[in-house]
Amino acid sequence: MDTIRSALLSDLQQATNSELVEAVRVKYLGRKGIITNLAKETDFSKLSAEEKKEFGQKLNDLKNFATDAIEQAVEQAKAVPVKKVSEIDLTQPGSNRHLGSLHPITLVQMEIEDIFQGMGFTVLGGPEVETDYACFESLNIPSDHPARDMQDTFWLTNERVLRTHTSASQVRTLLRFGAPVRAVFPGRCFRYEAVDPSHENTFYQCEGLVVDKNISVANLIAVMKTFLSEVFKRDVKVRLRPGFFPFVEPGFELDLNCLLCGGKGCPTCGDGWIELIPCGLVHPNVLRAGNIDPNEYSGFAFGMGLTRLAMMKYGIRDIRLLNCGDLRFNEQFAALV
Ligand code: FA5
Repeated sequence: MDTIRSALLSDLQQATNSELVEAVRVKYLGRKGIITNLAKETDFSKLSAEEKKEFGQKLNDLKNFATDAIEQAVEQAKAVPVKKVSEIDLTQPGSNRHLGSLHPITLVQMEIEDIFQGMGFTVLGGPEVETDYACFESLNIPSDHPARDMQDTFWLTNERVLRTHTSASQVRTLLRFGAPVRAVFPGRCFRYEAVDPSHENTFYQCEGLVVDKNISVANLIAVMKTFLSEVFKRDVKVRLRPGFFPFVEPGFELDLNCLLCGGKGCPTCGDGWIELIPCGLVHPNVLRAGNIDPNEYSGFAFGMGLTRLAMMKYGIRDIRLLNCGDLRFNEQFAALV
């Protein structure tokens, strides 16, 4: 009887209109219903007087339970208005299913990966929580080096750091793959920054690393030129100037003439130029840290500002919009997916 009780409840749960509830009633309490048959099918002659009494009581309870439950379901089904087919306006537009969109940084990252893969680069990742060694020491920045002040970061209590740049994965890549190697590793970085239209505390970079025999600045410039013409799909003005980073020698800053103001100067770029791709030839100490002989191999590296690239590509004037989580901003990029 307990099994019948649960089966009845389960049937009633699925009976969402009066007709279905009536079908359940017939199934259990109809002339040939399960509960009705229970009394008919039982051989009372084999039961003692005591057992007959108990059986009769349980059967009555079950009947009352079923009658109450079905009545309740009838009332509930009445409350749900059933539309006749003639009342449904088939010409009405259907309800739209909301589709999400990719974040502009994801869009740019996917495009960058595509371009570099086309040039034979492997796409790698790296941890956001790093060791001091990976983020600084291995990159020729010992703990007392003033260059540490260029990137103030968030230290964790276990002496780990939130990486300040994707360069933190350089030596790990060299140790893992050796030479020759040609890889990009895009990812999120963190700095203790005074936030403004072009500086965030959380932003994305895309590191590039090439190590092989006879790599020179000419190779670096050729790759940068190819990349920029593919990503912007038009001529853009850039300038290359000397830049200091302890892990490259010589080092450069590749700046982009601001596409938001046409180089006139605006709150995003300041003086008409936006720092986009610092780069240079890999310092011999970094090669050594990666177990590579600097007398045999040379290489170049760059650390592109992926977030700033997204801003230039999509005309985003304030970097803070990218992390604000406002769907009205993100939805504008849906059509680009
Ligand atoms: C570096 O982080 C070096 N690791 C880059 C590098 C790699 C140099 C390999 C040489 C060889 P820098 O601190 O300039 O350098 O940052 C690189 C780029 O990241 C900047 O040009 C900028 O586009 C972007 N960037 C840096 N700080 C921020 C920030 N707070 N918000 C948004 N973008 C930033």
